[in-house]
Amino acid sequence: MEIRAIGCEPLQLKRVHMKDGHTIKVYRDTGGYLSLKKALTMTPADIIEEVKASALRGRGGAGFPTGMKWSFVPKDSPKEKYVVCNADESEPGSFKDRYLMERDPHSMIEGMIIAAYALGSSTGYIYTRGEYKYLIDIMDVALAEAREAGMLGKNIFGSEFSCDIHTHTGAGAYICGEETALLSSLEGYRGHPRMKPPFPAIEGLYASPTIVNNCETFTSIPQIIEMGGIPWRDLGTEKSGGTKLWSISGHVKKPGVYELPMGYADMEKFIMEDCGGMLRDDKKLKAVIPGGSSVYIMNAGQILGKNVTLDYEGLVAAGSMLGTGGMMVMDETVDVMDTTKNLTEFYKHESCGWCTPCREGTDWLVKIFDRIASGGGRPEDAQLMLDICDNIEGKSFCPLGDAAAWPIQSAIKQVPDDFKKWLHAKTDIYASNV
Ligand SMILES: Cc1cc2nc3c(=O)[nH]c(=O)nc-3n(C[C@H](O)[C@H](O)[C@H](O)COP(=O)(O)O)c2cc1C
Ligand code: SF4
Repeated sequence: MEIRAIGCEPLQLKRVHMKDGHTIKVYRDTGGYLSLKKALTMTPADIIEEVKASALRGRGGAGFPTGMKWSFVPKDSPKEKYVVCNADESEPGSFKDRYLMERDPHSMIEGMIIAAYALGSSTGYIYTRGEYKYLIDIMDVALAEAREAGMLGKNIFGSEFSCDIHTHTGAGAYICGEETALLSSLEGYRGHPRMKPPFPAIEGLYASPTIVNNCETFTSIPQIIEMGGIPWRDLGTEKSGGTKLWSISGHVKKPGVYELPMGYADMEKFIMEDCGGMLRDDKKLKAVIPGGSSVYIMNAGQILGKNVTLDYEGLVAAGSMLGTGGMMVMDETVDVMDTTKNLTEFYKHESCGWCTPCREGTDWLVKIFDRIASGGGRPEDAQLMLDICDNIEGKSFCPLGDAAAWPIQSAIKQVPDDFKKWLHAKTDIYASNV
């Protein structure tokens, strides 16, 4: 398992290899909490402007500009405001946040405290999936250390600002990573998504203004305050600022967590050189899911020789999305029909059941995949599955429905041969008008 930065100084990964890097002592000895001290000399509005200037886009998958999100919080609201760290990390293929929490928990805490100050909040929550209980134990120790050192609690650094942060675990449901379902779960209800608008920034936890950000988004904040928004942005590109963590798994020699500057050139070099190339030298690259399971699958032809830059824009131009940066690499031995079946089973299992297109659609899709896998595939099944996907995508209550449709739509389009053999199809199975 590799954990390293390529093409930039490690920022997110600065402390992950340090002995006792998770302790407040090592954190402070290496510059930790100085950004908080600096932030407390700035006005909340100036902090939000720096975050806007940094072109930081949320690292939880959707890539929404963080500074803009923060600016939506109504400053004159008399209600308590909340800062919530989405540490659920349930996306298949994504495993970056756990290293941040395990090895450098204070970066995330410092980012949350700065956010709380900027947004006028005095309460934060860290929400993780149930399986990450061991990380909550680490976070609880780190929070206690921060309290003891005066970074949390009353009059932080002797200022007027007071704030505390608490931890909370869900029960391991993927949907509880969706920000409104997370807030329902945090309130003690079943983790169903809520209607948007109102967005959480206006009406979130306990119907109060709430900012939900990913772990990596928060760990970026002390760096932005330390360096300034523009210099941090310039580590990456104008529209995708800073550096980004990638979790890479599958058929490469050196899977792991890599920090790359946004706009890294290019995806082929990253897979074939930086990650050591194909796991088995005699096997060719077949397909990659670049951003966690909820993005379009790419075939080798979309990557090799195509100079795909690793940033939000580059991956969209190449026909997929950056998502969480959970890159899954498949060699030619993989049957993409089988991979897609597996992902669909996941989405069916994780569908919260609230809305019909997703609840019923994912169930029908799994039934079709089961029939295909047991030898009963028919040429018309490709179109049937695409029709069902069309009735889920954009017609479901939350983005989990879209996420269930995208792997199937893209796999049938980009790797048709892996379906043709199962469907006993002799002609094209992907019509260009679907
Ligand atoms: C089904 C589903 C699961 C999600 N899981 C996560 C997650 O585990 N962690 C996360 O940060 N965002 C997750 N998101 C995205 C959140 O809804 C939200 O966009 C994010 O927490 C916002 O933080 P950011 O702006 O810092 O990315 C998920 C979204 C969906 C639809
Ligand atoms: S799309 Fe799926 S996960 Fe989202 S609300 Fe509907 S049933 Fe639940």
